[in-house]
Amino acid sequence: MNAYIAGTGSYFPPGLLTNQMLENMVDTSDEWIYQRTGIRTRHIAGDMSVLDLAEQAAKNALEQAGHPNCDMIAVSTCTPDMFYPSVACRLGARLGIDNAFCFDLSGACTGFIQAIEVAGNAIQTGSAKTALVVAAEKLSSGVDYTDRNTCILFGDAAGAFVMSGGGSEHVKASYMASRNQDWACLYADIGGHMVMNGRDVYKFAVDVMPEAMGKVLERAGKTIEQVRWIIPHQANIRIIKAAAQRFNLPDEKLVVTLDKTGNTSSATIPCIVDEMHREGKLQPGDLILLVAFGAGLTYGAVLYEW
Ligand code: ACO
Repeated sequence: MNAYIAGTGSYFPPGLLTNQMLENMVDTSDEWIYQRTGIRTRHIAGDMSVLDLAEQAAKNALEQAGHPNCDMIAVSTCTPDMFYPSVACRLGARLGIDNAFCFDLSGACTGFIQAIEVAGNAIQTGSAKTALVVAAEKLSSGVDYTDRNTCILFGDAAGAFVMSGGGSEHVKASYMASRNQDWACLYADIGGHMVMNGRDVYKFAVDVMPEAMGKVLERAGKTIEQVRWIIPHQANIRIIKAAAQRFNLPDEKLVVTLDKTGNTSSATIPCIVDEMHREGKLQPGDLILLVAFGAGLTYGAVLYEW
């Protein structure tokens, strides 16, 4: 059975952390942050847990999909609030979903792309009928707010898809990969803060984003000209522009939202898709290319026909 997106949802907590507020916390400036990253502000969860964020986004997506029975819950998070049980099991308890295959997946910023790959395959083979796929990230819980190299980059959010089976083929192709030898560029120990070599992550991202885009197009037998929207992971505007340049992409195909959210790790892509969907920007037949990279180092892309 072909998998398709039956509903989308997103949630940003109300608390804001602006560049001006960061100027009072570390030695930085609004000008430096905006010029080097493209970020102006981010949402911060405060007392809300990862599970709280996940619940809000999931409810939005389930409502839009007409509250189907879900037999799979997949949650992507690199900031879980418990070792176990999974966020997925506790989310199921909150939503009253029982007897589902529930698991969390730790792919960092690539995690949501990986989760829809797993859910889509499960639907295609018949082992799941309807999957709730969520990315929930509370990066503020693991960032050191005395480290100007990292604390300016990240925000909190959750996004969700309901994926069901039926109809024509929507997932045209996917490509998942990793460079595991370089994992120490970006990590957090249990209970510790994020450690990042920003320059190395930057070089990696600029290299692998075009690779993943090229591979997924090749697998689908499509050209970049046929793609309506490129929805890249939002880490740094300079990374997005550099990847776009390699494909000579016109600005109007490229979706950029990080000025108002910062990097929300794996929640980034479903939140953008949800916003575009609710604004009526996604039309049946539009090809959308989702592409992400993150800790691992992982990367991947999915080409989806709306
Ligand atoms: N304000 C002012 N100055 C700063 C700041 C800041 N917030 N941060 C760093 N600097 C200084 C540095 O100390 C350095 O000073 P020096 O030259 O005296 O040593 C100077 O600015 C330049 O530093 P660079 O690291 O070279 O700056 P760069 O232009 O590379 O930008 C950045 C840094 C924004 C981190 C960039 O490298 C980047 O975006 N990297 C990718 C990071 C990323 O995407 N991480 C998330 C991956 S996704 C996931 O899985 C979570």
